[in-house]
Amino acid sequence: MKKSKKFFLETYGCQMNFSDSEIITSVLTRQGYDQTTDPGQADIVFINTCSIRENAEERVRKRLQYFKSLKKRNPALMIGLLGCMADRTKTALGNDEQLLDLVAGPDSYRDLPFLIEQAISGQKAIHTILSADETYADITPVRLDLNGVTAFISIMRGCENYCSYCVVPFTRGRERSRDAGSIVAETHDLFNQGYREVTLLGQNVNSYQWMSPGGKVDFANLLEQVAGVDPLMRIRFATSHPKDIPDALLHVIAKHDNICKSIHLPAQSGSNHILKLMNRNYTREQYMDRIRAIRDIIPGCSVSTDIITGFCDETEEDHQQTLSLMEWAKYDFAYMFKYSERPRTQAAETMKDNIAEPVKKRRLNEIIDLQQKLSFESNKRDLGKIFTTLIEGESKRSKWHHFGRNSQNKVIVFPKTEAGPGNYINARVVNFTSATLLGEIATA
Ligand code: SAH
Ligand code: SF4
Ligand code: F3S
Repeated sequence: MKKSKKFFLETYGCQMNFSDSEIITSVLTRQGYDQTTDPGQADIVFINTCSIRENAEERVRKRLQYFKSLKKRNPALMIGLLGCMADRTKTALGNDEQLLDLVAGPDSYRDLPFLIEQAISGQKAIHTILSADETYADITPVRLDLNGVTAFISIMRGCENYCSYCVVPFTRGRERSRDAGSIVAETHDLFNQGYREVTLLGQNVNSYQWMSPGGKVDFANLLEQVAGVDPLMRIRFATSHPKDIPDALLHVIAKHDNICKSIHLPAQSGSNHILKLMNRNYTREQYMDRIRAIRDIIPGCSVSTDIITGFCDETEEDHQQTLSLMEWAKYDFAYMFKYSERPRTQAAETMKDNIAEPVKKRRLNEIIDLQQKLSFESNKRDLGKIFTTLIEGESKRSKWHHFGRNSQNKVIVFPKTEAGPGNYINARVVNFTSATLLGEIATA
């Protein structure tokens, strides 16, 4: 009997990439390949890559060095590179590009079995063409999250916003939405398997659009349909673009208890001068207007952001504007980055990466320090409050505790009760750090 081949798959980058890895796993296991968690046991190792910042690519290069050492011991080992770096392996990897037996971009995963066969026959297999319509709607992902409670569902692919700093429109291609019916059906399936939270994913979920036989489905309609699957199924979504988050959508979020009260609304900068250079299509004032609308329409909603510091031509005054916007918005949470020039983007082609590294570093530290304070204050405001919390699993620090999240996406750690993962409990916040809330079980 032919022994089935084993693959090892490692993922870098954003949630969309992790979601893609579930599609990849599904495609491969359906073809009879077995997954292994030990690269030393694998016949083929896959690395699903990210290109968003230089350090993301650097991590992939380092990892390839390790795979190179495995290949020295086992020359039959094949190495496959997937995801957002696929299109530029030659420039990004230099000589190490020769290590690769297979390269497949984000829209090529259906072809993986064929590409593997080609690679086995000794030909290097490369497929990086981006598609205008691939959404993998018919492929049931193999869940890799392992907690059995929370899952991702990709509802769109690609991006056409062309923020001037961003590589995603080049690595992932045209924006396209996935069949609404398939999204609702996948949510039903997950619920029946015991899942209690889904996160709908896209680079800009607000522009979701699908023509169904019953008419046009926009993001607000889709949210309502998914929320209707079961009141016990929680819905999250990311990412929302500040240029189009209308009141109508906020009202839908407010109306359904099971749509989580947490919005990730990346500002990137607080300065109009920089927002314009970034091609973000909103001003500081328009952004503030959206935050006010969120606070008015969805009381208690948490708001988080992404910030890029040290973008081309950013002055000290621009930087102060970012700090003041953060202070004003009282973000509960933030991802903060130093600007990293990416090939092919508008910024790389037409602007100068002219903020010195030490200045970028200092500004980033100021931003991180401020956010630390804001997160601490945000958690402090929760002291004494009672939150419905979905239990996700055992606390990493103590086997006597569970952890879960509240609707606002904050982690709460609390003493274990009989209720296990997948159940809801009411937790009263009794203590906190800037990262975590500590709770006790609240009896009514
Ligand atoms: N589609 C999402 C974000 C995708 S990338 C959105 O528009 O919000 C995630 C974050 O990475 C971005 O929000 C941005 O803050 C950061 N990022 C993207 N390109 C970057 C670059 N060239 N340098 C530094 N940070 C970058
Ligand atoms: Fe990149 Fe902008 Fe698209 Fe987000 S919206 S993925 S930052 S181009
Ligand atoms: Fe995501 Fe990185 Fe690609 S952030 S879309 S995996 S470039």
